[in-house]
Amino acid sequence: MIELLIGRRYRLVRLIGEGGMGKVWEAYDLQEDRAVAIKQFRQELATQGVLLQRFEREAELMRELRHPHILDVLAFFEEDGERYLVMPFMTGSLYELLKLQGPMPVEWVRDIGLAIADALVCAHRLGIVHRDIKPENILIDAQGQVVLTDFGLARLKFGPPLTQDGDIIGSISHMSPEMCRGQKADERADIWGLGTLMYELLTGSAPFHKDNLRRMVLAIVTQPPPPIEASRPDVPAQLLDLIGDMLKKDPDERIGSMPEVAARLAQTPDVSPTPQRWPPAYLVKAPPREEPAEGAEEEAKGEAKGEAKGEAEEEAGRERGRLRGLYRRFRDKVLDRE
Ligand SMILES: Nc1ncnc2c1ncn2[C@@H]1O[C@H](COP(=O)(O)OP(=O)(O)OP(=O)(O)O)[C@@H](O)[C@H]1O
Ligand SMILES: [Mg+2]
Repeated sequence: MIELLIGRRYRLVRLIGEGGMGKVWEAYDLQEDRAVAIKQFRQELATQGVLLQRFEREAELMRELRHPHILDVLAFFEEDGERYLVMPFMTGSLYELLKLQGPMPVEWVRDIGLAIADALVCAHRLGIVHRDIKPENILIDAQGQVVLTDFGLARLKFGPPLTQDGDIIGSISHMSPEMCRGQKADERADIWGLGTLMYELLTGSAPFHKDNLRRMVLAIVTQPPPPIEASRPDVPAQLLDLIGDMLKKDPDERIGSMPEVAARLAQTPDVSPTPQRWPPAYLVKAPPREEPAEGAEEEAKGEAKGEAKGEAEEEAGRERGRLRGLYRRFRDKVLDRE
C-alpha cells in the first residue's frame, strides 16, 4: 500500500466520513505520535478566497482559545491546492450517541448544555459565533467529555456555491430563523442553536424537520416546535421555559446572552430517581484490562449486578449494562470500520 503523507507529517489511516465542508480522515501525526482527524475541504470551498481568509483568521483565534469543551485546531494549511484542518481525534459524536441511545436523561442534557454554553461564552467574548450548533458538531473524547467543533465553518458552508438540496436540509435543521431569512447571525443564533440541540437530546429529533427545503424554512421561521412535554413529561418547568425562551423566532425576544443561558441551566434540578451525571461511566475509557470483549457480556454484567440489589437499582443496573453494550457497538462502528 502506498503511504500517504499530508503536510509531511500526517499519515492517512482511513476515511471517517464526509460532511458539508468535505471529507474527514483519521490520520496519525508522526511528529507528535498521536491520532488526529483531518478535514479536507471540498475543492469549491478551497477556492472561496475571502471566506477562507476570514475562516483562517478565526482558526488563528481559536488556536489561542483553549477551552476544555472546544476542540483544538492543531493546524490549518494548504498543500497541492488542497486545504486541510487538523484536530485531535475524537471517539464519536452526540449524533451517533443519540442514534443509539435515544432521548437522554434531563441531567445529561443539562450538563451537556452547560458545557457547551460555557464554551460559547468563551467564543462569544472573542467575537466568534459558531452558527452551526447540532449533535454532529459536538464530539466526545475518550473521557466522555463533549467538545464543540467546526467553529466558523457555517459561514463557508452556507456561502455560495450551495450544496445539493439534501445536504442543505440536513444542515439547516438547526439554523436560526434570522439565518433562514438571510440576515446577519450574531451570538443569538448560537442561543437558538443550543436550544435546538437540547430539544433534540430530550426528544430524539430536531424541533423542525421537514422533507423539503421550503417547508423546513417555513417551519423554522413561522411554526412552533412540537411541545417537548408531549414525549417527555419528566422535563422540569425551568428547562422547558428556558428552551422556549431560547427558541423565540425573533432574536430581540430571545434570551439575551449565553451567560444568562448558563445561569438558568444551572438551576435545572435533578429529576431522575437514580443519579444521572454526564459523562456516564460507560463513555469513560476504562483501563484495557477492565474492557470487556463484547457488548453482550456487558449487558449480562449489568444484569448480574442489578440482581443483587433492590428493584430500582436492578433496573438501573440493567440500563447501565444496556447503555454500555450500546456504546461498545457505537465505538466498534466508529472506530473499527476498516
Ligand atoms: N476530530 C474528529 N475526530 C473524529 N471524528 C471526527 C472528527 N471531526 C469530525 N469527525 C467525524 O467525521 C464525520 C464528518 O464530519 P463533518 O464535520 O465533516 O460532518 P458533519 O458534522 O456531519 O457536517 P458539517 O459539515 O455540518 O459539520 C462525522 O462522522 C464526524 O463525527
Ligand atoms: Mg461537523
